[in-house]
Amino acid sequence: MNPNDFYQLVQSRKSIRAYKPIPVENDKLERILEAALHAPSGKNRQNWRFFVVTGKKRDEYLKYSQKSWLGIKDVLAKRLKPSLYQFTERFFYTLGNAPVIIFCYSHNDSEERYLTSIGSVYMAVQNINLACFVEGLGCCTMGAPLEIKQEVDQFLGVTHLPEYQRGELELLCAVVLGYPDHNPPKAPRQREGRIIFVDDVLEKNQ
Ligand SMILES: Cc1cc2nc3c(=O)[nH]c(=O)nc-3n(C[C@H](O)[C@H](O)[C@H](O)COP(=O)(O)O)c2cc1C
Repeated sequence: MNPNDFYQLVQSRKSIRAYKPIPVENDKLERILEAALHAPSGKNRQNWRFFVVTGKKRDEYLKYSQKSWLGIKDVLAKRLKPSLYQFTERFFYTLGNAPVIIFCYSHNDSEERYLTSIGSVYMAVQNINLACFVEGLGCCTMGAPLEIKQEVDQFLGVTHLPEYQRGELELLCAVVLGYPDHNPPKAPRQREGRIIFVDDVLEKNQ
């Protein structure tokens, strides 16, 4: 693989919040989910669980998404300029017409540290993000469903699973995906203070 292809991929990926109202082909969705399964995980426990929602069930979720907005809107009202606030509100009400939602759960148990379990699932979520991009799709990872975590658990039927009843299944995020219907600017990245070479710090302090 040409390294430039990889760096171009990670730098070009961006969150998409408007989608064409057309379905995603099953074979594409399968490849994306397969990519998720190839992520690294603590002790190779592969402790991710993905609940894939499309069709009528996806439509039904919109009312939950709208509810999750209520928990977030006040914080965003302070952070976003009015036009972006309105766009984001609309996104929560419609999910940008995304035809697929993947709810990402962690199966936590006493064999693994909690943070390692959580981190492993997010490794898989990043694979989903990158796979969408190479498939010509867009996606947006959403922490918003955590605002209404227990309602989402019930909506998906996760509450009936024995692991859930033992307190081991935890919703971490959703990824909405579909064919992009906009081309937003890339969100800027900052390097300042984010990467610290420890040897340099030691040298400065000597
Ligand atoms: C864990 C996580 C939770 C996120 N939750 C939301 C969300 O609820 N709603 C949303 O519109 N975007 C959400 N995002 C997307 C971020 O806003 C986005 O990744 C960030 O602004 C950087 O933009 P980019 O993805 O286009 O590079 C989330 C991203 C991550 C990784």
